Amino acid sequence: MKVLTVVGARPQFIKSFPVTRALQPDHDEVLVHTGQHYDQELSDVFFEELDLRVPDHNLGVGSSTHAVQTGEMMRRLDPIVAAEAPDVILLYGDTNSTIAGALVGANRDTTVAHVEAGLRSGERSMPEEINRIVTDHVADVLCTPCEAATRNLEREGIADRASETGDVMYDAIKWADRIAHRESDIVERLGVDDDPFVLATVHRPRNTDDPDRLNAIVEALLQAPAPVVFPVHPRTEAALRDQNRWAAVAEGLECTDPVGYLDFVRLLDGAQRVVTDSGGVQKEAFFLETPCVTLREETEWTETVQHGWNALVGAGTERILDAIAAPFDAPAHPQPYGDGSAAERIVEVLATE
Ligand code: UD1
Ligand code: UDP
Repeated sequence: MKVLTVVGARPQFIKSFPVTRALQPDHDEVLVHTGQHYDQELSDVFFEELDLRVPDHNLGVGSSTHAVQTGEMMRRLDPIVAAEAPDVILLYGDTNSTIAGALVGANRDTTVAHVEAGLRSGERSMPEEINRIVTDHVADVLCTPCEAATRNLEREGIADRASETGDVMYDAIKWADRIAHRESDIVERLGVDDDPFVLATVHRPRNTDDPDRLNAIVEALLQAPAPVVFPVHPRTEAALRDQNRWAAVAEGLECTDPVGYLDFVRLLDGAQRVVTDSGGVQKEAFFLETPCVTLREETEWTETVQHGWNALVGAGTERILDAIAAPFDAPAHPQPYGDGSAAERIVEVLATE
């Protein structure tokens, strides 16, 4: 089987590596990087530490509006799909790189497979929600990470294409957690190894592009009762600079550039709380049993909230601070996201197509 994998943004490098490893013994993989993320710390660092092959094709699209970025990806990907003639186009998650691959594959009559299918937050103003819905509806093979995702596809009448494989991010973190403590010295480098600390990430346009929300989040982080380690996404740094908040943030928080995956897993495992608007980080916090405070009103990873490990607080300063300071009695920790061998299952599903 020849699989053409499309990745482009940070979480996709992480989601794809377990499947790349599972494909290696018996199948051919062509790796396409759209170039959606291009900074060293959002892209190359993952290829180096996860030992990913240099992409066979880099579309080099860079940053732009959603329409231009997605259109440019499609224009550059289409001739590659025609030339490579893969059996399957394999897509991850919910970014513009995902939907571009889905539309190109559907128009070329190539089997399209979507990993992380079936997730819904119900918030259609987020581009990711539209990317998920459209990708699921044009894809031929839908690999869901959990039962709730499969149910969502049933409601939309497309569960006949679904296989509940479990979540590749659980595979990834099981591998990373084993070696992060050995290979990462990030907590020592940042000087937070002895005391409780909070880890924070913010990058959703809803938070970065709304000055009131961003300001309220920053206030909460500056007033947090413990040091806050803040790996800053470039979108967020740009917004903070625009709003003249960067100096206060750089002074009051332990800011770093975005860090590699092993460093991030080490930080997340060591943190007393994580405060985030990331999709993947909510779930990784659940895997590592670090209580999560989510700066959104809704989530697609509903199990993390239902089981008591994740609080959806939005972007109000007081609510964020209350959630950071709230006493936490670790609740039971079921595992709704599979058993850590989703990648092997996905390869089996693809091979039977
Ligand atoms: C994208 C995804 C989002 C995902 C996130 C992972 C979409 C619609 N959004 O959001 O779902 O959660 O990736 O991190 O696909 N930039 C740089 N260097 C880079 C890349 C981006 O400086 O290497 C800056 C640019 O100013 C760019 C901005 O960040 O305009 C946003 O980048 P973009 O890829 O459009 O969206 P993300 O916010 O990263
Ligand atoms: N991550 C990382 N370094 C960082 C911040 C996040 O390696 O500085 C990893 C994190 O472990 C997770 C993924 O990036 O696997 C989440 O990506 P992001 O928050 O950018 O996107 P989302 O999951 O919201 O789409």
